[in-house]
Amino acid sequence: MFDPKGFFHAVLVAAALLPTFAAMAQDKMLNLYSSRHYQTDEALYGNFTKLTGLAINRIEAGEDPLIERLRNEGARSPADVLVTVDAGRLWRAEQLGLFAPVDSKVLETRLPESMRAPNKQWFGFSARARVIVYNKQSFDPARAQNYEDLANPALKGKVCTRSGGHVYNLSLMSALIEHWGEQKAEQWARGVVANFARAPKGGDTDQILAVASGECGVAISNSYYYVRLMKSAKSEHRRAIERVGLIWPNQKSFGTHVNVSGAAVLKHAPHRAAAVRFLEYLASDEAQAYFANGNNEWPAVKTAPLDNAELASLGRFKSDDLNVGLLGKNQPLAQKIFDRAGFK
Ligand SMILES: [Fe+2]
Repeated sequence: MFDPKGFFHAVLVAAALLPTFAAMAQDKMLNLYSSRHYQTDEALYGNFTKLTGLAINRIEAGEDPLIERLRNEGARSPADVLVTVDAGRLWRAEQLGLFAPVDSKVLETRLPESMRAPNKQWFGFSARARVIVYNKQSFDPARAQNYEDLANPALKGKVCTRSGGHVYNLSLMSALIEHWGEQKAEQWARGVVANFARAPKGGDTDQILAVASGECGVAISNSYYYVRLMKSAKSEHRRAIERVGLIWPNQKSFGTHVNVSGAAVLKHAPHRAAAVRFLEYLASDEAQAYFANGNNEWPAVKTAPLDNAELASLGRFKSDDLNVGLLGKNQPLAQKIFDRAGFK
């Protein structure tokens, strides 16, 4: 016989349990928004799942579209962690209120102070250097040992770079503002513009290739693009890189500008504990090797192994250990200076 009371009781019990089941299923996972996409990522993420039982659901897109997406999703965003590149971009996401601070002894002890934003909202997990490259046949490297030299009138018609509006150049300018002050930084920008071999166009790889072809004498590039060409499957890339030398700028002063690939826990993260655990995992020796190698970068953790023969072959250098937070803070002024200097 149908018992309405018992039936409704059963329905109520089931309804009460449903959210619990849903929460259990949900809590076994982590939603990761990443602008990375490298071969080593499978091992990087697979090992985290092996270690923690937490499955990673990845959303991959370009850097700026991902930040735009997070902004649009607002409090409804399923994202737990954002992985992206450049302190300038991480700072921009911070300014949009996307991140929540993370208090973690693991991150504090593993990551150098310079790699941690002072408000604990984001962290650098690998490092890239902004170097000078030169044509070995036509350009004497003694003429461009420092960023300052790129503004020297003696290099008129020799200098190539990507756009001044790109975050890599804005972050470099942010560092120069910190070291030189606004006035000298602006003078420098004007000097570089006056030395352009051509109007800024293309990415860093295009600058290196233009140096190899002789169109430019020197160019500014992130280090991993250089290593990527060294490792390229295309023989024309490997031939090109043989014609190009690499300079670590400012070894006798503040050191070469260094930037980061980094990550942050999102403010509306549905799985915050898992997100913090993931960031701590990224600081482990094993994850550091995969994370850094994926893009031919240096591990942020000093004790982590550098298992990358081509990158290691570039040797050691003095890096500018400005805090990543400063690189962010100076971005708006950097943009103003480039605008005033006509560095488009
Ligand atoms: Fe890049």
